[in-house]
Amino acid sequence: MAVLARTPAEVGLDPLQPEPYEVVARVVETADVVTLTLEPRGRQLADVEPGQFVMLWGFGVGEIPISVSGLGPNGAINLTVRNVGAVSASVVNCELGALLGVRGPFGTAWPVAEATGLDAVVVAGGLGLAPLRLAIDALVASASLTSSRVTLIIGSREPAQLLYPEHLQRWIDAGVNVVVTVDAADRTWTGAVGTATALIERLAEPHQIAFVCGPEIMMTTAARALIASGTPADHVYLSLERNMHCAIGHCGRCQLGPLILCRDGAVVRWSDVGDLMEVRQR
Ligand SMILES: Cc1cc2nc3c(=O)[nH]c(=O)nc-3n(C[C@H](O)[C@H](O)[C@H](O)COP(=O)(O)OP(=O)(O)OC[C@H]3O[C@@H](n4cnc5c(N)ncnc54)[C@H](O)[C@@H]3O)c2cc1C
Ligand code: FES
Repeated sequence: MAVLARTPAEVGLDPLQPEPYEVVARVVETADVVTLTLEPRGRQLADVEPGQFVMLWGFGVGEIPISVSGLGPNGAINLTVRNVGAVSASVVNCELGALLGVRGPFGTAWPVAEATGLDAVVVAGGLGLAPLRLAIDALVASASLTSSRVTLIIGSREPAQLLYPEHLQRWIDAGVNVVVTVDAADRTWTGAVGTATALIERLAEPHQIAFVCGPEIMMTTAARALIASGTPADHVYLSLERNMHCAIGHCGRCQLGPLILCRDGAVVRWSDVGDLMEVRQR
C-alpha cells in the first residue's frame, strides 16, 4: 500500500498553523514553472516522505497544495510550482528573502521500500515529475544496492517544457533507463514523439512496480497500458491531485468515493481507484 507518513500533530506541530519559510533560492524551470528553495524561519516541518505535499500560503492571497520536489540542508524544502492562477502566480513571482507560510507535510508517500529490489518504472507527465523526484532518487539509491532496474518514462508537451535537466543527466549516469517523448518536436529534437502512454504500449515491457504522476487522463491511460504490458494492477501507484482546503481530513473538499485524498492520497494504488477515476471533481 501507499506509505502512511507521520502527521504534523505526531511531531507536535499544529497542522492548521502555517510556519514561516523564507525563499532562499529560485530556479526558473520553464516559462511558467519555478522551483523555490524554502528554509524554515520558525519551526521546521516533520520529515517529508517522497510524494507528500504541503499547504503553501501566499500571505494575503491564499493557500494551495504543492508537492515537495526536493529536500536540502537546514530543513530546506524544494517546491516546483506552475503559474496557473492567483495563488500560484504570487508564489512563482516571489523574490529571494520573501516569506511564505507552510504547513504539513500531508498525505501518503510513494512506496519506495516496497519497490526495493523490484524492476520499477516511473511515468511522469509534465509537472508530474515534481512529486516523483524524491522517489526516483530513492529508487536509484536502492537499485545501486540490489542491481534492480529503474526505467523513467517522461512525457512532455515540447522539449522546452522538460524539467530538471541536471537531475535527468544524474539519473542517466546512475544507470536509469530514461526515455523522453514529446507531443510536439522542434528541429533540434531527436527523441521519441507522441504520448507517454503510446510509448508504454510500444515498449510493452512488464515491470514489477510502477509509479505514475501527471494529468488524470494521462495517468488513467498509462496505468491501463502498464497493466496490459504485464505490471500487476495492485503494483501500479498514482498521485491524485484533487482540490484541497484543510488537508487534514475535515472539510471533505478532496473526497473521491470512499477516499479522503488529503489523508488517503495523494499517492494511491490503481486497483483502489481505477473505477473511481471517472468521477468528476466538484
Ligand atoms: C496534492 C497536490 C499536489 C500538488 N502539487 C503541485 C505541484 O507540485 N506544483 C504545482 O504547480 N501544482 C501542484 N498542485 C496543483 C496546485 O495546487 C494548483 O495549481 C493550485 O491550487 C492552483 O491555485 P491558484 O490559486 O494558483 O489557481 P486557481 O485560480 O485556483 O486555478 C487556476 C487553474 O488551475 C486549476 N487547478 C486548481 N487546482 C488544481 C489542482 N489541484 N490540480 C489541477 N488543476 C488545478 C483550476 O481548475 C484552474 O483552471 C497540486 C495539487 C494537489 C492537490
Ligand atoms: S482537504 Fe479537507 S478533507 Fe481533504
